[in-house]
Amino acid sequence: MWTLCLQKRCFHSSVSLMKTLKKKSPAEQRWLLRQLKDPYVKASHKQNFRCRSAFKLLEIDDKFGLFQAGYSVVDCGAAPGAWSQVAVQRVNSTGTDPDSPRGTLIGIDLLNIPPLDGAHFLSNHDVMDPATHAKLQELLPGGQAHVILSDMAPNASGFRDMDHERIITMCFSLIDLAGKILQPRGSLLCKYWDGILTHQLQEKLSRLFGSVRSLKPDASRKDSAERFFLARMHKK
Ligand SMILES: C[S@@+](CC[C@H](N)C(=O)[O-])C[C@H]1O[C@@H](n2cnc3c(N)ncnc32)[C@H](O)[C@@H]1O
Repeated sequence: MWTLCLQKRCFHSSVSLMKTLKKKSPAEQRWLLRQLKDPYVKASHKQNFRCRSAFKLLEIDDKFGLFQAGYSVVDCGAAPGAWSQVAVQRVNSTGTDPDSPRGTLIGIDLLNIPPLDGAHFLSNHDVMDPATHAKLQELLPGGQAHVILSDMAPNASGFRDMDHERIITMCFSLIDLAGKILQPRGSLLCKYWDGILTHQLQEKLSRLFGSVRSLKPDASRKDSAERFFLARMHKK
């Protein structure tokens, strides 16, 4: 009986999926099918993360111990807020663990970021604008962050070289920001799309940080040019 019910339910949901797919363009159909098959999308729904990108940061923190309770973190390009959800938990910015120090999380995005307990969001702000840098200096305890995160990305134009140049420009502006707010020995994690200028960025990071590594977390889609630089031990 139970199996019969399940079979009927599966049949009905497949029929409604087919109907939904029929109304979509081929590109939308491909995107929907990819989302449906993606284990990280399923896991993010289950664990109430705002999107699958949470698992990239969880993986990096589990491997490299980026966060500690009490840390101040700036999340650049934070919308919709999955990385912020991870950082809020890991730095104890809600004070959920009363025996550990309470951290701070400030998220910034050009878009609106829905509110999150333990996070202070600067929605409709440009990370590359010096006025945003000044606001961050005011909001951070002592004007300093232990960690700067950036999952920022420009709207992809489809022209690979142009998109690469634009994201690398964003990474260079994060280096300026780090010069203003990142603590000595602090860390910068930034996303980039691989290309001809990657080497220049890596060289600049290597001059300013004690260690720089390039990462491709398992949760990052294999067919994407996305990678991350993890730069640690900021030399102030
Ligand atoms: C891939 S999404 C970030 C996802 C986020 N890490 C999460 O886990 O929810 C990239 C974000 O970067 C933002 N962005 C792009 N350029 C920006 C800029 N100059 N200043 C602030 N945010 C920017 C976009 O609006 C977009 O929301």
